[in-house]
Amino acid sequence: MRTHPLSVIILAAGKGSRMKSQTAKVLHPVSGRPMLYHSIKAAKAISDDVTIVIAHQKEEVIETIGGLFDEITFAIQDIEQFPGTGGALMGIKPKNEKVLVLNGDMPLVTAEALKGFLEADADIIMSIFDLEDPSGYGRVVLSDAGVERIVEEKDATPEELTISHVNAGVYCFKRDVLAECLPRLNNHNAQEEYYLTDIIEMARDEHRRVLPLLIDEGHFKGVNSRADLEAADVIMQRRIKTAWMKAGVTMQLADTIYIEESVVFKGECVVENGVRITGTSSIENSHIKAHSVVEDSVMVDSDCGPMAHLRPGSALYGTHIGNFVETKKATLRGVKAGHLSYLGDAEIDEGTNIGAGTITCNYDGKSKYKTKIGKNVFVGSDTQIVAPCEIEDDVMIAAGTTVTGTKIDSGVLVVSRTPMKIVKNFYHKFFGKAES
Ligand code: UD1
Ligand code: MG
Repeated sequence: MRTHPLSVIILAAGKGSRMKSQTAKVLHPVSGRPMLYHSIKAAKAISDDVTIVIAHQKEEVIETIGGLFDEITFAIQDIEQFPGTGGALMGIKPKNEKVLVLNGDMPLVTAEALKGFLEADADIIMSIFDLEDPSGYGRVVLSDAGVERIVEEKDATPEELTISHVNAGVYCFKRDVLAECLPRLNNHNAQEEYYLTDIIEMARDEHRRVLPLLIDEGHFKGVNSRADLEAADVIMQRRIKTAWMKAGVTMQLADTIYIEESVVFKGECVVENGVRITGTSSIENSHIKAHSVVEDSVMVDSDCGPMAHLRPGSALYGTHIGNFVETKKATLRGVKAGHLSYLGDAEIDEGTNIGAGTITCNYDGKSKYKTKIGKNVFVGSDTQIVAPCEIEDDVMIAAGTTVTGTKIDSGVLVVSRTPMKIVKNFYHKFFGKAES
Protein backbone atom coordinates (compact mmCIF):
# COMPACT_ATOMS: atom_id res chain seq x y z
CA MET A 1 0.00 0.00 0.00
CA ARG A 2 1.38 3.45 -0.82
CA THR A 3 1.99 5.95 1.96
CA HIS A 4 -0.37 8.93 2.34
CA PRO A 5 0.33 12.54 3.24
CA LEU A 6 -0.66 11.99 6.82
CA SER A 7 1.13 11.69 10.13
CA VAL A 8 0.46 8.88 12.59
CA ILE A 9 0.84 9.15 16.35
CA ILE A 10 0.69 5.94 18.38
CA LEU A 11 -0.06 6.28 22.08
CA ALA A 12 2.04 3.90 24.12
CA ALA A 13 2.94 5.82 27.27
CA GLY A 14 0.30 4.47 29.65
CA LYS A 15 0.95 2.21 32.59
CA GLY A 16 -1.41 -0.60 31.68
CA SER A 17 -2.18 -1.36 35.31
CA ARG A 18 -5.01 -3.75 34.39
CA MET A 19 -2.40 -6.17 32.97
CA LYS A 20 -0.97 -6.66 36.50
CA SER A 21 2.51 -7.00 35.06
CA GLN A 22 6.09 -5.78 35.50
CA THR A 23 6.32 -5.66 31.69
CA ALA A 24 5.01 -2.57 29.88
CA LYS A 25 1.56 -3.33 28.45
CA VAL A 26 2.51 -2.54 24.86
CA LEU A 27 5.40 -5.03 25.05
CA HIS A 28 3.20 -8.02 25.88
CA PRO A 29 3.37 -10.28 22.84
CA VAL A 30 0.58 -11.13 20.45
CA SER A 31 1.59 -14.02 18.17
CA GLY A 32 5.22 -13.56 19.16
CA ARG A 33 5.54 -9.82 18.52
CA PRO A 34 5.11 -7.04 21.08
CA MET A 35 1.60 -5.59 20.85
CA LEU A 36 3.02 -2.24 19.78
CA TYR A 37 4.92 -3.81 16.85
CA HIS A 38 1.64 -4.62 15.09
CA SER A 39 0.25 -1.08 15.17
CA ILE A 40 3.59 0.41 14.11
CA LYS A 41 3.69 -2.02 11.16
CA ALA A 42 0.20 -0.90 10.05
CA ALA A 43 1.13 2.78 10.53
CA LYS A 44 4.37 2.53 8.57
CA ALA A 45 2.53 0.99 5.64
CA ILE A 46 0.43 4.15 5.21
CA SER A 47 2.62 6.97 6.49
CA ASP A 48 6.20 8.20 6.45
CA ASP A 49 5.76 10.26 9.63
CA VAL A 50 5.07 7.88 12.52
CA THR A 51 5.68 8.95 16.13
CA ILE A 52 5.41 6.64 19.14
CA VAL A 53 4.56 8.36 22.43
CA ILE A 54 6.15 6.66 25.41
CA ALA A 55 6.76 7.34 29.13
CA HIS A 56 6.27 4.37 31.47
CA GLN A 57 9.17 1.92 31.09
CA LYS A 58 10.40 3.94 28.16
CA GLU A 59 13.86 2.37 28.19
CA GLU A 60 12.44 -1.14 27.73
CA VAL A 61 10.07 0.04 25.01
CA ILE A 62 12.85 1.82 23.10
CA GLU A 63 15.15 -1.20 23.40
CA THR A 64 12.58 -3.77 22.29
CA ILE A 65 10.77 -1.80 19.60
CA GLY A 66 13.79 0.15 18.35
CA GLY A 67 15.40 -3.13 17.30
CA LEU A 68 12.42 -4.24 15.24
CA PHE A 69 12.25 -1.34 12.77
CA ASP A 70 14.92 0.42 10.71
CA GLU A 71 13.73 3.88 11.56
CA ILE A 72 11.51 4.94 14.38
CA THR A 73 10.63 8.22 16.13
CA PHE A 74 9.81 8.27 19.82
CA ALA A 75 8.34 11.21 21.76
CA ILE A 76 8.43 11.24 25.55
CA GLN A 77 5.20 12.29 27.25
CA ASP A 78 5.37 14.49 30.37
CA ILE A 79 3.18 11.98 32.15
CA GLU A 80 3.59 13.51 35.63
CA GLN A 81 2.19 16.91 34.61
CA PHE A 82 -0.04 15.87 31.74
CA PRO A 83 -1.22 12.30 32.19
CA GLY A 84 -3.83 10.80 29.88
CA THR A 85 -4.35 10.23 26.17
CA GLY A 86 -4.75 13.99 25.60
CA GLY A 87 -1.54 14.70 27.50
CA ALA A 88 0.21 12.20 25.23
CA LEU A 89 -0.33 14.39 22.17
CA MET A 90 0.79 17.65 23.74
CA GLY A 91 4.01 19.04 22.28
CA ILE A 92 4.05 16.79 19.20
CA LYS A 93 4.44 18.59 15.87
CA PRO A 94 3.10 16.40 13.06
CA LYS A 95 4.54 17.04 9.58
CA ASN A 96 1.27 16.55 7.72
CA GLU A 97 -2.15 18.23 7.80
CA LYS A 98 -3.99 15.03 8.62
CA VAL A 99 -3.05 13.26 11.85
CA LEU A 100 -4.13 9.72 12.58
CA VAL A 101 -4.02 8.77 16.26
CA LEU A 102 -3.88 5.12 17.26
CA ASN A 103 -3.76 3.49 20.66
CA GLY A 104 -0.69 1.30 21.10
CA ASP A 105 -2.82 -1.39 22.75
CA MET A 106 -4.57 -2.21 19.48
CA PRO A 107 -2.54 -5.05 17.99
CA LEU A 108 -5.16 -6.23 15.48
CA VAL A 109 -5.14 -3.07 13.40
CA THR A 110 -3.97 -3.33 9.77
CA ALA A 111 -3.18 -0.79 7.06
CA GLU A 112 -6.20 -2.07 5.13
CA ALA A 113 -8.53 -1.50 8.09
CA LEU A 114 -7.35 2.12 8.38
CA LYS A 115 -8.30 2.97 4.79
CA GLY A 116 -11.69 4.41 5.81
CA PHE A 117 -9.95 7.06 7.93
CA LEU A 118 -7.83 8.16 4.99
CA GLU A 119 -10.62 8.38 2.46
CA ALA A 120 -13.21 10.32 4.50
CA ASP A 121 -13.00 14.07 5.00
CA ALA A 122 -13.96 15.88 8.24
CA ASP A 123 -12.35 17.93 11.01
CA ILE A 124 -12.36 14.80 13.14
CA ILE A 125 -13.07 11.25 12.04
CA MET A 126 -13.61 9.02 15.02
CA SER A 127 -14.24 5.30 15.33
CA ILE A 128 -17.20 3.50 16.82
CA PHE A 129 -18.14 -0.10 17.28
CA ASP A 130 -21.14 -1.74 18.89
CA LEU A 131 -20.62 -4.27 21.64
CA GLU A 132 -22.94 -6.47 23.64
CA ASP A 133 -20.55 -6.02 26.55
CA PRO A 134 -19.12 -2.50 26.25
CA SER A 135 -17.23 -2.63 29.57
CA GLY A 136 -13.76 -1.15 29.59
CA TYR A 137 -14.42 1.26 26.71
CA GLY A 138 -15.47 4.90 26.54
CA ARG A 139 -19.15 5.19 25.59
CA VAL A 140 -20.16 7.34 22.60
CA VAL A 141 -23.14 9.57 23.31
CA LEU A 142 -25.07 10.08 20.07
CA SER A 143 -27.96 12.39 19.23
CA ASP A 144 -29.89 13.12 16.03
CA ALA A 145 -27.24 15.70 15.25
CA GLY A 146 -24.45 13.09 15.43
CA VAL A 147 -21.75 12.49 18.02
CA GLU A 148 -22.30 14.53 21.17
CA ARG A 149 -19.34 13.42 23.27
CA ILE A 150 -17.42 10.44 24.61
CA VAL A 151 -17.78 9.55 28.26
CA GLU A 152 -15.20 7.34 29.95
CA GLU A 153 -16.46 4.36 31.91
CA LYS A 154 -15.22 5.76 35.21
CA ASP A 155 -17.10 9.04 34.64
CA ALA A 156 -20.30 7.59 33.18
CA THR A 157 -23.73 7.67 34.81
CA PRO A 158 -25.53 4.30 35.21
CA GLU A 159 -27.63 5.25 32.21
CA GLU A 160 -24.59 6.09 30.07
CA LEU A 161 -23.02 2.76 31.02
CA THR A 162 -25.79 0.97 29.14
CA ILE A 163 -24.77 2.61 25.84
CA SER A 164 -23.47 -0.07 23.50
CA HIS A 165 -21.63 2.23 21.04
CA VAL A 166 -18.02 2.45 22.14
CA ASN A 167 -15.02 4.53 21.15
CA ALA A 168 -12.46 2.30 19.44
CA GLY A 169 -9.66 4.79 20.08
CA VAL A 170 -8.68 5.64 16.49
CA TYR A 171 -9.09 9.20 15.26
CA CYS A 172 -8.08 11.22 12.25
CA PHE A 173 -7.72 14.91 13.15
CA LYS A 174 -7.03 17.94 11.04
CA ARG A 175 -3.73 19.17 12.49
CA ASP A 176 -5.16 22.66 13.19
CA VAL A 177 -8.02 21.20 15.24
CA LEU A 178 -5.55 19.37 17.46
CA ALA A 179 -3.36 22.44 17.82
CA GLU A 180 -6.34 24.55 18.89
CA CYS A 181 -8.07 22.04 21.18
CA LEU A 182 -5.21 20.28 22.99
CA PRO A 183 -4.16 23.30 25.11
CA ARG A 184 -7.77 23.68 26.28
CA LEU A 185 -8.13 20.18 27.72
CA ASN A 186 -8.46 19.86 31.50
CA ASN A 187 -8.22 16.96 33.92
CA HIS A 188 -11.48 17.49 35.78
CA ASN A 189 -12.58 13.87 35.72
CA ALA A 190 -12.53 10.68 37.78
CA GLN A 191 -9.00 9.75 36.68
CA GLU A 192 -7.60 13.31 36.82
CA GLU A 193 -6.23 12.80 33.32
CA TYR A 194 -6.24 14.88 30.17
CA TYR A 195 -8.63 12.88 28.00
CA LEU A 196 -8.14 13.09 24.24
CA THR A 197 -11.78 12.09 23.96
CA ASP A 198 -12.90 15.47 25.39
CA ILE A 199 -11.86 17.09 22.10
CA ILE A 200 -14.96 15.59 20.48
CA GLU A 201 -17.36 17.62 22.60
CA MET A 202 -15.23 20.75 22.15
CA ALA A 203 -15.29 20.33 18.38
CA ARG A 204 -19.03 19.72 18.34
CA ASP A 205 -19.65 22.89 20.38
CA GLU A 206 -17.62 24.82 17.83
CA HIS A 207 -19.63 23.31 14.95
CA ARG A 208 -16.71 21.45 13.50
CA ARG A 209 -17.45 18.36 11.43
CA VAL A 210 -17.11 15.20 13.53
CA LEU A 211 -17.62 12.08 11.46
CA PRO A 212 -18.27 8.78 13.22
CA LEU A 213 -16.92 5.77 11.35
CA LEU A 214 -18.48 2.44 12.16
CA ILE A 215 -15.70 -0.16 12.28
CA ASP A 216 -15.35 -3.85 13.15
CA GLU A 217 -14.08 -5.01 16.52
CA GLY A 218 -11.94 -7.64 14.81
CA HIS A 219 -9.38 -5.01 13.79
CA PHE A 220 -9.65 -2.48 16.58
CA LYS A 221 -10.02 -4.46 19.77
CA GLY A 222 -8.24 -2.74 22.69
CA VAL A 223 -6.12 -4.93 24.96
CA ASN A 224 -6.32 -3.91 28.59
CA SER A 225 -6.14 -7.22 30.46
CA ARG A 226 -4.57 -10.64 30.04
CA ALA A 227 -7.96 -12.00 28.96
CA ASP A 228 -8.08 -9.34 26.20
CA LEU A 229 -4.54 -10.34 25.23
CA GLU A 230 -5.59 -13.96 24.76
CA ALA A 231 -8.68 -12.94 22.79
CA ALA A 232 -6.55 -10.76 20.47
CA ASP A 233 -4.08 -13.60 19.97
CA VAL A 234 -6.88 -15.96 18.91
CA ILE A 235 -7.93 -13.48 16.19
CA MET A 236 -4.33 -12.86 15.11
CA GLN A 237 -3.61 -16.60 14.94
CA ARG A 238 -6.64 -17.18 12.74
CA ARG A 239 -5.42 -14.40 10.43
CA ILE A 240 -1.85 -15.72 10.22
CA LYS A 241 -2.93 -19.31 9.57
CA THR A 242 -5.55 -18.39 6.96
CA ALA A 243 -2.92 -16.42 5.04
CA TRP A 244 -0.48 -19.37 5.05
CA MET A 245 -3.18 -21.85 4.05
CA LYS A 246 -3.92 -19.59 1.08
CA ALA A 247 -0.23 -19.68 0.22
CA GLY A 248 -0.11 -23.49 0.08
CA VAL A 249 0.27 -24.80 3.63
CA THR A 250 -2.01 -27.63 4.75
CA MET A 251 -3.02 -27.44 8.41
CA GLN A 252 -4.81 -30.19 10.28
CA LEU A 253 -7.10 -28.90 13.06
CA ALA A 254 -5.69 -25.41 12.54
CA ASP A 255 -7.21 -24.15 15.81
CA THR A 256 -4.72 -26.30 17.74
CA ILE A 257 -1.68 -24.91 15.87
CA TYR A 258 0.28 -21.83 17.03
CA ILE A 259 2.37 -19.94 14.48
CA GLU A 260 4.15 -16.69 15.29
CA GLU A 261 3.93 -13.69 12.99
CA SER A 262 7.62 -13.90 12.08
CA VAL A 263 7.51 -17.49 10.76
CA VAL A 264 7.87 -18.00 6.99
CA PHE A 265 6.69 -20.91 4.81
CA LYS A 266 7.82 -21.65 1.27
CA GLY A 267 6.55 -24.19 -1.24
CA GLU A 268 4.12 -26.85 -0.06
CA CYS A 269 4.09 -27.72 3.61
CA VAL A 270 1.96 -29.78 5.99
CA VAL A 271 1.50 -28.84 9.63
CA GLU A 272 -0.32 -31.34 11.81
CA ASN A 273 -2.39 -30.62 14.91
CA GLY A 274 -0.84 -29.28 18.12
CA VAL A 275 2.29 -27.88 16.44
CA ARG A 276 3.98 -24.69 17.70
CA ILE A 277 6.33 -22.75 15.37
CA THR A 278 8.05 -19.63 16.67
CA GLY A 279 10.60 -16.91 16.01
CA THR A 280 12.52 -16.71 12.76
CA SER A 281 11.64 -20.24 11.66
CA SER A 282 11.55 -20.85 7.92
CA ILE A 283 9.80 -23.97 6.65
CA GLU A 284 10.14 -25.05 3.02
CA ASN A 285 8.51 -28.11 1.41
CA SER A 286 8.42 -29.84 4.77
CA HIS A 287 6.06 -31.80 7.00
CA ILE A 288 5.77 -31.08 10.72
CA LYS A 289 3.98 -33.88 12.53
CA ALA A 290 1.65 -33.62 15.50
CA HIS A 291 2.70 -31.86 18.72
CA SER A 292 6.17 -30.82 17.54
CA VAL A 293 7.77 -27.53 18.59
CA VAL A 294 9.95 -25.62 16.12
CA GLU A 295 11.80 -22.54 17.43
CA ASP A 296 14.02 -20.25 15.32
CA SER A 297 14.87 -23.13 13.00
CA VAL A 298 15.08 -23.92 9.31
CA MET A 299 13.50 -26.93 7.59
CA VAL A 300 13.97 -27.63 3.89
CA ASP A 301 12.61 -30.83 2.26
CA SER A 302 12.43 -32.40 5.71
CA ASP A 303 10.00 -33.87 8.18
CA CYS A 304 9.91 -33.95 11.94
CA GLY A 305 7.84 -35.44 14.73
CA PRO A 306 5.42 -36.39 16.04
CA MET A 307 6.59 -34.74 19.26
CA ALA A 308 9.96 -33.50 18.01
CA HIS A 309 11.60 -30.37 19.45
CA LEU A 310 13.70 -28.21 17.15
CA ARG A 311 15.31 -25.65 19.44
CA PRO A 312 16.89 -22.40 18.19
CA GLY A 313 19.55 -22.70 15.53
CA SER A 314 18.48 -26.07 14.13
CA ALA A 315 18.65 -26.48 10.36
CA LEU A 316 17.34 -29.59 8.62
CA TYR A 317 17.92 -30.21 4.91
CA GLY A 318 16.47 -33.40 3.39
CA THR A 319 16.34 -34.82 6.89
CA HIS A 320 13.98 -37.03 8.88
CA ILE A 321 13.61 -36.36 12.61
CA GLY A 322 11.33 -38.72 14.50
CA ASN A 323 9.49 -38.71 17.79
CA PHE A 324 11.15 -37.42 20.95
CA VAL A 325 14.18 -36.09 19.10
CA GLU A 326 15.52 -32.75 20.34
CA THR A 327 17.93 -30.67 18.29
CA LYS A 328 19.67 -27.39 19.15
CA LYS A 329 22.17 -25.41 17.05
CA ALA A 330 22.43 -28.46 14.83
CA THR A 331 22.75 -28.62 11.05
CA LEU A 332 21.62 -31.94 9.60
CA ARG A 333 21.87 -32.69 5.87
CA GLY A 334 20.33 -35.88 4.53
CA VAL A 335 20.21 -37.43 8.01
CA LYS A 336 17.80 -39.88 9.65
CA ALA A 337 17.32 -39.61 13.41
CA GLY A 338 14.18 -41.57 14.07
CA HIS A 339 13.75 -41.72 17.83
CA LEU A 340 14.65 -40.43 21.29
CA SER A 341 17.82 -38.42 20.74
CA TYR A 342 19.48 -35.15 21.74
CA LEU A 343 21.57 -33.56 19.00
CA GLY A 344 23.01 -30.24 20.20
CA ASP A 345 25.84 -28.08 18.80
CA ALA A 346 26.21 -30.59 16.02
CA GLU A 347 26.87 -30.84 12.30
CA ILE A 348 25.83 -34.11 10.69
CA ASP A 349 26.26 -34.99 7.03
CA GLU A 350 24.49 -36.97 4.31
CA GLY A 351 23.57 -40.62 4.62
CA THR A 352 24.19 -40.76 8.34
CA ASN A 353 21.79 -42.71 10.54
CA ILE A 354 21.40 -41.75 14.17
CA GLY A 355 20.16 -44.66 16.31
CA ALA A 356 17.57 -44.37 19.05
CA GLY A 357 18.86 -42.85 22.27
CA THR A 358 21.88 -41.07 20.80
CA ILE A 359 23.13 -38.13 22.81
CA THR A 360 25.69 -35.52 21.86
CA CYS A 361 27.18 -34.65 25.26
CA ASN A 362 27.83 -31.01 24.40
CA TYR A 363 28.19 -29.51 27.90
CA ASP A 364 30.78 -30.31 30.55
CA GLY A 365 29.24 -28.12 33.22
CA LYS A 366 31.27 -25.08 32.15
CA SER A 367 31.39 -24.83 28.35
CA LYS A 368 29.62 -26.08 25.25
CA TYR A 369 31.46 -28.14 22.61
CA LYS A 370 30.73 -29.20 19.03
CA THR A 371 30.14 -32.60 17.51
CA LYS A 372 30.84 -33.15 13.82
CA ILE A 373 29.71 -36.33 12.11
CA GLY A 374 30.59 -37.01 8.46
CA LYS A 375 28.78 -38.86 5.69
CA ASN A 376 27.32 -42.38 5.88
CA VAL A 377 28.09 -42.88 9.54
CA PHE A 378 26.06 -45.53 11.36
CA VAL A 379 25.50 -44.47 14.95
CA GLY A 380 24.11 -47.42 16.93
CA SER A 381 21.38 -47.02 19.53
CA ASP A 382 22.21 -45.65 22.98
CA THR A 383 25.43 -43.95 21.88
CA GLN A 384 26.90 -41.00 23.74
CA ILE A 385 29.30 -38.80 21.83
CA VAL A 386 31.35 -36.71 24.25
CA ALA A 387 32.12 -33.40 22.55
CA PRO A 388 34.33 -31.99 21.20
CA CYS A 389 34.39 -34.82 18.72
CA GLU A 390 34.80 -35.18 14.98
CA ILE A 391 33.73 -38.42 13.36
CA GLU A 392 34.89 -38.79 9.76
CA ASP A 393 32.89 -40.36 6.90
CA ASP A 394 32.05 -44.09 6.77
CA VAL A 395 32.33 -44.94 10.45
CA MET A 396 30.32 -47.51 12.39
CA ILE A 397 29.57 -46.97 16.06
CA ALA A 398 28.26 -49.99 17.92
CA ALA A 399 25.14 -49.75 20.09
CA GLY A 400 25.81 -48.67 23.65
CA THR A 401 29.12 -46.96 22.89
CA THR A 402 30.49 -43.91 24.65
CA VAL A 403 32.64 -42.13 22.09
CA THR A 404 35.38 -40.22 23.87
CA GLY A 405 38.06 -39.50 21.26
CA THR A 406 38.18 -36.05 19.72
CA LYS A 407 38.75 -37.52 16.23
CA ILE A 408 37.47 -40.81 14.83
CA ASP A 409 39.10 -41.76 11.52
CA SER A 410 37.19 -42.87 8.45
CA GLY A 411 36.41 -46.56 8.02
CA VAL A 412 36.64 -47.79 11.64
CA LEU A 413 34.26 -49.52 14.03
CA VAL A 414 34.00 -47.86 17.44
CA VAL A 415 32.75 -49.99 20.30
CA SER A 416 32.87 -49.51 24.07
CA ARG A 417 30.89 -51.99 26.12
CA THR A 418 31.00 -53.60 29.50
CA PRO A 419 31.35 -57.31 28.70
CA MET A 420 28.08 -59.21 29.09
CA LYS A 421 27.85 -61.87 31.82
CA ILE A 422 25.43 -64.79 32.08
CA VAL A 423 24.58 -66.15 35.55
CA LYS A 424 22.82 -69.45 35.25
CA ASN A 425 19.74 -70.23 37.44
CA PHE A 426 19.88 -66.76 38.99
CA TYR A 427 16.22 -65.93 38.33
CA HIS A 428 14.77 -68.97 39.99
CA LYS A 429 17.05 -68.70 43.02
CA PHE A 430 16.35 -65.00 43.46
CA PHE A 431 12.58 -65.35 43.34
CA GLY A 432 12.57 -68.73 45.07
CA LYS A 433 10.67 -70.35 42.19
CA ALA A 434 11.16 -73.89 40.99
CA GLU A 435 12.44 -74.42 37.48
CA SER A 436 9.71 -75.53 35.10
C1 UD1 B 1 -9.16 4.77 25.68
C2 UD1 B 1 -10.24 5.85 25.43
C3 UD1 B 1 -11.60 5.16 25.40
C4 UD1 B 1 -11.60 4.09 24.33
C5 UD1 B 1 -10.45 3.10 24.51
C6 UD1 B 1 -10.32 2.20 23.29
C7 UD1 B 1 -9.42 7.92 26.43
C8 UD1 B 1 -9.54 8.89 27.55
N1 UD1 B 1 -10.18 6.84 26.48
O1 UD1 B 1 -9.44 4.22 26.96
O2 UD1 B 1 -12.60 6.12 25.15
O3 UD1 B 1 -12.83 3.38 24.36
O4 UD1 B 1 -9.19 3.79 24.65
O5 UD1 B 1 -9.37 1.21 23.48
O6 UD1 B 1 -8.67 8.18 25.51
N2 UD1 B 1 -1.64 6.29 26.90
C9 UD1 B 1 -0.64 7.22 26.78
N3 UD1 B 1 -0.49 8.15 27.76
C10 UD1 B 1 -1.30 8.23 28.83
C11 UD1 B 1 -2.34 7.28 28.96
C12 UD1 B 1 -2.50 6.33 27.95
O7 UD1 B 1 0.13 7.18 25.81
O8 UD1 B 1 -1.08 9.09 29.68
C13 UD1 B 1 -1.77 5.26 25.86
C14 UD1 B 1 -1.73 3.86 26.44
O9 UD1 B 1 -0.41 3.36 26.48
C15 UD1 B 1 -2.62 3.06 25.49
C16 UD1 B 1 -3.56 4.12 24.93
O10 UD1 B 1 -3.01 5.38 25.23
O11 UD1 B 1 -1.88 2.49 24.45
C17 UD1 B 1 -4.94 4.02 25.56
O12 UD1 B 1 -4.80 4.11 26.97
P1 UD1 B 1 -5.69 3.24 27.95
O13 UD1 B 1 -5.31 3.59 29.33
O14 UD1 B 1 -5.68 1.83 27.55
O15 UD1 B 1 -7.10 3.91 27.63
P2 UD1 B 1 -8.51 3.19 27.76
O16 UD1 B 1 -8.93 3.26 29.19
O17 UD1 B 1 -8.48 1.90 27.10
MG1 MG C 1 -6.99 0.72 26.30
